[in-house]
Amino acid sequence: MRLGSIILFVALCSFSAYYVYEPIPEDIEERWKLMLTDTFFRSLSHLADFCELLGIKDYMGVMYFITLIENIVPISDKHVNVTVENFDGVEVLLYQPKQQSGDTELRRAVIYLHGGGWCLGSSHMSPYDLLARKVATELNAVILSVEYRLAPVHHFPVPYEDAYRVVKHFLQIGVLARYSVDPGRIAVSGDSAGGNLAAAVSQQLLKDPTQKVQLKAQALIYPVLQALDLNTPSYQQNQDMPILPRTLMVRFWSEYLTSDKAFFRAMMANAHNNLESSGMLKFVNWSTLLPETYHGKYNYSAPAVGLGEAKLAIETSGSLIDPRASPLLVPDAALRSLPKAYIITCEYDVLRDDGIMYATRLRTAGVEVTHEHYESGFHGALMFTLWPMDFLLAHRMMDNYTEWLKENL
Ligand SMILES: *[C@@H]1O[C@H](CO)[C@@H](O)[C@H](O)[C@H]1NC(C)=O
Ligand SMILES: *[C@@H]1O[C@H](CO)[C@@H](O)[C@H](O)[C@H]1NC(C)=O
Ligand SMILES: *[C@@H]1O[C@H](CO)[C@@H](O)[C@H](O)[C@H]1NC(C)=O
Ligand SMILES: *[C@@H]1O[C@H](CO)[C@@H](O)[C@H](O)[C@H]1NC(C)=O
Repeated sequence: MRLGSIILFVALCSFSAYYVYEPIPEDIEERWKLMLTDTFFRSLSHLADFCELLGIKDYMGVMYFITLIENIVPISDKHVNVTVENFDGVEVLLYQPKQQSGDTELRRAVIYLHGGGWCLGSSHMSPYDLLARKVATELNAVILSVEYRLAPVHHFPVPYEDAYRVVKHFLQIGVLARYSVDPGRIAVSGDSAGGNLAAAVSQQLLKDPTQKVQLKAQALIYPVLQALDLNTPSYQQNQDMPILPRTLMVRFWSEYLTSDKAFFRAMMANAHNNLESSGMLKFVNWSTLLPETYHGKYNYSAPAVGLGEAKLAIETSGSLIDPRASPLLVPDAALRSLPKAYIITCEYDVLRDDGIMYATRLRTAGVEVTHEHYESGFHGALMFTLWPMDFLLAHRMMDNYTEWLKENL
């Protein structure tokens, strides 16, 4: 009884907070459902802050609950064989479509990197399992869902390196043959932080002189692509949007790169750049890379330089300009031969402009890009494909994503 009242009270407070501060935009479909979902996320985030303050558990440790409640044990079904494998020391979930009699053709493959800000999430979460089965079945493709290690226990570059190791291991002729995969038809893909890892892997693979098999496509779903400017118009416009408010995204970035709390505060103020990183601001200059229609009411001002330099450990300032963490930070020449790209962006997402700027830069460099912008989309939508938290938007997104892979891989 008492617990019930407390829950009701917390829910009511969160609801009223919405009406007072930042109502969900009118054009988002199924608003009440998104409000409920977000109330849960926000309450958990408050609880996580509280636990960290009291020294009971760190913030991300509490937030990890989101991952745990959606974790399942993926099992084989009538269409797909699911196994847990170890690829060069990294755990992967392998989805193989069951062989039809007389089916001897080589298959396509997708290497999938889950989202969760490098700190949360797992390949074992039910929405990722659903997506993998759908793509495996509809494309008759092999799907590799990578269980890379997470921050803050493992800072950058560990999550990236895990992803890269899996890709290098899989793209060996002998390994591909074992799974009947066509070496010319392999894609890397991921959502949010997974989109960041997918973009980074695509770039690094191209630079690797020992690499024979290359990727055919990269499919990036609302990816994170840079840490230098955390005040782009989308960061400003969507700072209080559901699922991924600006504070949480800044927190993910800082926990990915360092344990130094001063870095989080500097990033919140967008004053974390140093002399070296400020020389790279041209690669993320939204004033030139974002089409006018997305500028909104915002005027460009370059992120401040200084505070970062004094405070940051050498190790962190190196990560800040590392394109394996921020794939936007490479010159055009490094983009030129990248595999064709599919990029999803959502209007109500702090990361909207990261994705749009990458689409602009890839096109300028001559890469074939399909950019799908969801006008009433919000960050993380693809995670909401299962009852009771399923959204029509999520199903449209999943269908379009699968369709693109079907036609382009
Ligand atoms: C599924 O995987 C198991 C174990 O690896 C294997 O023995 C079986 O032949 C596979 N089934 C199909 C239909 O591919
Ligand atoms: C960004 O672009 C604007 C407009 O072209 C320019 O005035 C500004 O100097 C640029 N800033 C940086 C840091 O590249
Ligand atoms: C942006 O610049 C214009 C022209 O200088 C100015 O009128 C407007 O008030 C500025 N907007 C903001 C939000 O600062
Ligand atoms: C999704 O695909 C449909 C059918 O091809 C298309 O009409 C729609 O514009 C796509 N959605 C977005 C946001 O691009």
